[in-house]
Amino acid sequence: MYLEIDNLYKIFGDNIVLDRINLEVDSGEFVCLLGPSGCGKTTLLRIIAGLLPSDGGKLSLDGKHLTNLPARERNFGIVFQSYSLFPHMTAKENVGYGLKIRGWNKKEIEKRSMEMLELINLAEMSNRYPHQLSGGQQQRIALARALAIDPSIILLDEPLSALDAKVREKMRMEIKDVQRRLGIPILMVTHDQEEALALADKVVCMNKGMIEQIGRPDELYLRPRTRFVADFIGASNLMALDWVSKHLPEAMATLPQERDEYFLCIRPEFVILNGDAAKPANVKSVTFHGSFNRVCVEYAGVEMTAEVHNHIQCDPGASVGVSFDANGFVWVKS
Ligand SMILES: Nc1ncnc2c1ncn2[C@@H]1O[C@H](COP(=O)(O)OP(=O)(O)OP(=O)(O)O)[C@@H](O)[C@H]1O
Ligand SMILES: [Mg+2]
Repeated sequence: MYLEIDNLYKIFGDNIVLDRINLEVDSGEFVCLLGPSGCGKTTLLRIIAGLLPSDGGKLSLDGKHLTNLPARERNFGIVFQSYSLFPHMTAKENVGYGLKIRGWNKKEIEKRSMEMLELINLAEMSNRYPHQLSGGQQQRIALARALAIDPSIILLDEPLSALDAKVREKMRMEIKDVQRRLGIPILMVTHDQEEALALADKVVCMNKGMIEQIGRPDELYLRPRTRFVADFIGASNLMALDWVSKHLPEAMATLPQERDEYFLCIRPEFVILNGDAAKPANVKSVTFHGSFNRVCVEYAGVEMTAEVHNHIQCDPGASVGVSFDANGFVWVKS
């Protein structure tokens, strides 16, 4: 393991903001920290960066203890949410800043800064000031500045949240591409589940200062372990135990031992409409999502969401048959 976080703990006042955080980042790995506002993502990143002390636990990089190492000796590249460029410096001077304080000479700084600007395709804007650049360009410069020092790891705190959807998607791919080419591990904070699923080798889903689940994006989506993960990542139908025992008895065979604490999670794409005529449902609403429609139906006394191709005719008020693909049954803990 490259970066190792062991039983990390943080308290603000009487608030436990981080509770026994255990997390590993491998060399070359892209890890996303995902969770709702206030769950402790930024706090965790700041502790890793050395900008905030922890109240317990251990932090190590490549086997070396980090806990008492000051931020500037950690050699981490950091990009925060708001554009953090120095307004009175050009793009090139911003990129070279970290090198200057590390005592590089002028010629070396010039060469390295231009290499970094070429890497992010902004070499022709090297002499512009931040206010002469778009939001996306500024974030790319911030990324180049973080990369210039040849960091051991890159820490990103919602670097794309101020950008519009289109630029954001393009930037995501650029970050991923740069990361692949340089092989630098990245730990990125986001509260956007789509972003995490698209970028990460490993997603860390946090809730109220604790880690709910760590896994590959497809594992978190297809095999959520808790109700929170099922609900926070993607859309899901969460069915109570007594409903399942009455209306989906075939799912009961896989119910874990401590049965009372479980819900059955069925993702919308595993709810099939125009299926079983013996299981009629009423269409409540249909929403258009481009390549598919989300259809809300009332079935056996509960509302459920199904995802259907939008060439299937289905209107509010219509009666449809419902069936389920049992491959999509996952019991999750409440
Ligand atoms: N300096 C501080 N003093 C007291 N409480 C703090 C301090 N910094 C953060 N907190 C609290 O710690 C909790 C976690 O905050 P943090 O900024 O880590 O959340 P976050 O997951 O990054 O949220 P967001 O997605 O909104 O950025 C919050 O409840 C916040 O109010
Ligand atoms: Mg934050």
